[in-house]
This record gives sequence, C-alpha cells and structure tokens, in this order.
Amino acid sequence: MASCDFGPGPDRFLAEVLSGLRKPQKELPSKYFYDEHGSHLFARITELEEYYIPRVEASIMQAHIGDIAGLIGPQALVIEFGSGNCEKVRFLLDHLYDPVAYVPIDIAREQLLPVAEQFASEYPGLEVCPVCADYLSRFDIPNPERAARRVCIYFPGSTIGNFDPLPARRFLEHAAAVCGQAGALLIGVDLKKDPAVLHSAYNDEAGITAAFDLNILERINRELECDFHPHRFQHYAFYNPRESRVELHLISDRNQEVHVGGETIYFAEGESIWTESSYKYNLEEFARLATTAGFKVEQVWTDERRWFSVQYLTPR
Ligand code: TRP
Repeated sequence: MASCDFGPGPDRFLAEVLSGLRKPQKELPSKYFYDEHGSHLFARITELEEYYIPRVEASIMQAHIGDIAGLIGPQALVIEFGSGNCEKVRFLLDHLYDPVAYVPIDIAREQLLPVAEQFASEYPGLEVCPVCADYLSRFDIPNPERAARRVCIYFPGSTIGNFDPLPARRFLEHAAAVCGQAGALLIGVDLKKDPAVLHSAYNDEAGITAAFDLNILERINRELECDFHPHRFQHYAFYNPRESRVELHLISDRNQEVHVGGETIYFAEGESIWTESSYKYNLEEFARLATTAGFKVEQVWTDERRWFSVQYLTPR
C-alpha cells in the first residue's frame, strides 16, 4: 500500500504551541489532540451516551443511504479529511457502487497507517491510499490506478464546526478545488439546539472529554519536554450563544508558570487555554457559508429533532 507523509514535525509543533500560548487569550491548536492516546480517547467520546453526534449522524446516513449512493454514483474516488479510525466511512463505502479508491487523510500518523492497512485487507477491490497530513496544508492527492468518475469528499462528524468562520470558508474553498467541477462534498453539520444538550455533550459525566482535553498537555510535556501539571487545569466547555459555538477551555486552578521551549508562560488563577470550538449552524447559515465558498447545497437530510444534518454539496 502506497502512503504519503506530509504531517507536521516537532519544530512546527513547538512553534504552533508557543504562538498559541503567547496570545492574550491563550490557545492550543486542536489538531494536536490526536496523538495515539488522544485518538483512543476520542474514539471513546464517540461512544458516550451524552455525545449525540455519531449516533444521530449514523441514523441519518442509514435512513438516506440509497439517495446518497445514488447521488454519488458509481466508480467514485472517496477522500476523507480527518479519517480517524475510519469507522464512519465503512457504511458509505459498503453502499457505493464499485468505488475505485479511498484516500484517508489524517494527522494522527500512529493511527492512520495500521487502520489503513486493515481497511485495505477488508476491502480487496478498493485501492486504499492513506495520506498523513494536516488537511489544511497543501499536499497532493494520490492518483488512483483506475479512473474515477467522481471525486467525493467525505467530511462527517461536524468537524467543519471546529473551524472559525473564515477558516471554515477557506476549508470549503479548498475542498471545492480538490473535488473539482464534477465532484461533491458529503458533509455532516451539527445544528443549533438546547444549550443544555450541548453542555452535557461536551462535559460528559465519565470525564472522558476532560481527559481528552487535558491529554494535549501531556502530549506537549512528552514531545516538547515541557512541564505542565495537567491536574492544575480543569476542563470546562460552555455554549456561547452570541458566537453560536461551544468553547472548550482548560482553566488554571492557581497562579502558576510553565516552561515551553525555553520560554516561561505565566497563568493567573482562573485563566484559561482555549483548546477547541464547535460551531453550531442553522440550515440557512450553513447554506450561506457553503455558497460563499463556491458550493451549492444539493440536498440536506436531518433527523426528526433537527439536531444534525448530512448535506450533499456540489461546486457551483
Ligand atoms: N467535531 C467534534 C465536535 O465538535 C469534535 C469533538 C467532539 C471534540 N468532542 C470534542 C473536540 C471534545 C475536542 C474536544 O463535536
């Protein structure tokens, strides 16, 4: 199996961590959540009772897979941005007619390669070409051996919600360029709902989301030789209705200092590191975003409660 590696190395990691921690509102880039342990914790989040997204998204996919497969058509090249453990795409690939290749793109190298190997052995007719990359950077999509009739980008799980509005638009523009005029984007978009539902989804009882959030500090300690005390930070997530987003923060429980790449970073008691956002849209807002990025919304499927949507977009 051919694979490509464009993933960021340690220098890049340190530079991004430092630039985030120097800001007045400290932040850390969420793509670094996904080391081996982080990927494992994220898989556990997707199984939590409170975290409705995977369940609702899967139910929408199941209810409409006939329409979805019909729109995508035969001999598609399926590219997945942020493929994780490649679990979600199975249902799609199982229902497409004669897909030619699957290109999983993910930054979590430790997880990507073994999962892709496993995948290739389970789908013998399918060419699997994993790419390790930060999917926001420029990289080449491998050319499959068989010609594809359509490039379909699969972007489930409302990962689009993890981008601020301008990067979200840039991401969609990039996706439109990658899939080309005849291509399509099948995307999961989380919708606005009762903030209490959102609160428990991102502050689960068992503390898995907290462990996942704090793991980024452990990873920084290990890979960048820093001295964070993760137990001196508390995970907290809340819905910010003005900005239509859930914000995830790690709050310092005392005044403290941390050493990062020879620099001292000071934390006041109660000060936070902002680690992630998860924007929630209504259908009109998302359609506007998609349109400004060069897409047309062809089809939208939702669940009965309108908690989540799966959308089929094509370049305009
Ligand atoms: N795309 C997911 C979301 O916004 C990612 C996610 C779920 C997440 N739970 C998280 C990211 C906790 C960071 C921390 O729902």
